[in-house]
Amino acid sequence: MTNKLLLESLQKLIEPSKMLTDTESLEAYGKDWTKIYTPNPMAIVFPKTTEEVQAIVQWANEHKVGLVPSGGRTGLSGAAVATNQEVVVSFDYMNKIIGFNEIDREVICQPGLITEQLQNFAEDNGLYYPVDFASVGSSQIGGNIATNAGGIKVIRYGMTRNWVVGLKVVTGKGDLLDLNKGLIKNATGYDFRNLFIGAEGTLGFIVEATIKLERKPNNLTALVLATPDFESIMSLLHAFQSKLDLTAFEFFSDRCLEKILDRGDIPAPLDDRYPFYALIEFEALTETIKDEALAIFENCMEQGWVVDGVISQSEQQLKNLWRLREDISETIAPFTPYKNDLSVTISKVPSFLADIDEVVKADYPDFDVLWYGHIGDGNLHLNILKPQNLAKEEFFAKCATVNKDVFEIVKKYNGSVSAEHGVGLVKRDYLEYSRSAVEIDYMRSVKAVFDPNNIMNPGKIFK
Ligand code: MLT
Ligand code: ZN
Repeated sequence: MTNKLLLESLQKLIEPSKMLTDTESLEAYGKDWTKIYTPNPMAIVFPKTTEEVQAIVQWANEHKVGLVPSGGRTGLSGAAVATNQEVVVSFDYMNKIIGFNEIDREVICQPGLITEQLQNFAEDNGLYYPVDFASVGSSQIGGNIATNAGGIKVIRYGMTRNWVVGLKVVTGKGDLLDLNKGLIKNATGYDFRNLFIGAEGTLGFIVEATIKLERKPNNLTALVLATPDFESIMSLLHAFQSKLDLTAFEFFSDRCLEKILDRGDIPAPLDDRYPFYALIEFEALTETIKDEALAIFENCMEQGWVVDGVISQSEQQLKNLWRLREDISETIAPFTPYKNDLSVTISKVPSFLADIDEVVKADYPDFDVLWYGHIGDGNLHLNILKPQNLAKEEFFAKCATVNKDVFEIVKKYNGSVSAEHGVGLVKRDYLEYSRSAVEIDYMRSVKAVFDPNNIMNPGKIFK
């Protein structure tokens, strides 16, 4: 069937204004924040109901057309990219909160709900949705669930998976499954809900989610501490974590701080500059807890692990300190960074980082390497900035060589080639560095059960 006839039949399933084929929309909805793939979708559809989603999936099965789910498109792995005449299914119009129970502390929402709106709804009801990261103003809950989004509070609250107590999904076969139904305890066999979390839309589409909320933290307080070397960051983690219940433990190198300060709109935290910084956050529920934090700070200075530091004294100062870490990604985006999102068990972090630093330097001594990340979770973001005199293609080709060396180290350490950004297209050729061939075979078999015609986000995770 020609594309024209295909689109005529697709159009019959949804409102006329809810299908777009103009060049601008195809370009905008065919890509995510990776911006390294050329968008080439056939059309964008905007279903408003679960029935419409089911009809679209049935249509795709009938005509063997690939479907790509689309949320806020803030992903960094190319999971929401349509490069091969797929139909993009955007959840922009399925974006409402449709239920809330204050006793259960559970909210039912549609997948297109913006993450920040869920956070605000929780706050308006005296509660808290703890999954947090820089792009919450654009990202959508469906996308967060599909990628099992992490972020800056994982050390205390875990990843998105921890907060999803129910999911309605339309499988690749077009069946509607109502999974776990908001239950906290449910020991009735395979938990398909967890299979769909982090599946990047390759098994089916999320059409509704039940999310658990939490007590709102009180008097959050942050320290930014400068260290003379990376090992000291790890000593700080151990010192603070053994005495306090931390809500965050992040780190960044001085090169990151330099880029942040170059912006000119974020105040320098300290008078001088040092090799590494830790951002440590905790709930100062009582004065005693705050005193305890200050005592650990002093002790770390005596040990030589900290050379200078600052503690937030107001909400505004807390926000300013967080910007030093949270704004790194956006600040370095214009420098065409080659991004890697790696993890290992926490105790191995120092030698893992040193080994990677060494291979990158051995391959390309002039590369500008920036390190930051969620060190309390063993999650490191390695960003290499494109040298000005190098064409983008040449730079990416060189980084692909570096990648192989980096991933050999990841494999040696039993680490992950994607800690929180997903596999998508960016990491699919490297999956075997983190998952065994047998595991990948089982993954393919699971995919075939839920999506026998391979229409759900084809080519993502696996070729
Ligand atoms: C972050 O931690 O800032 C995000 O994962 C984005 C990034 O890695 O650039
Ligand atoms: Zn991150």
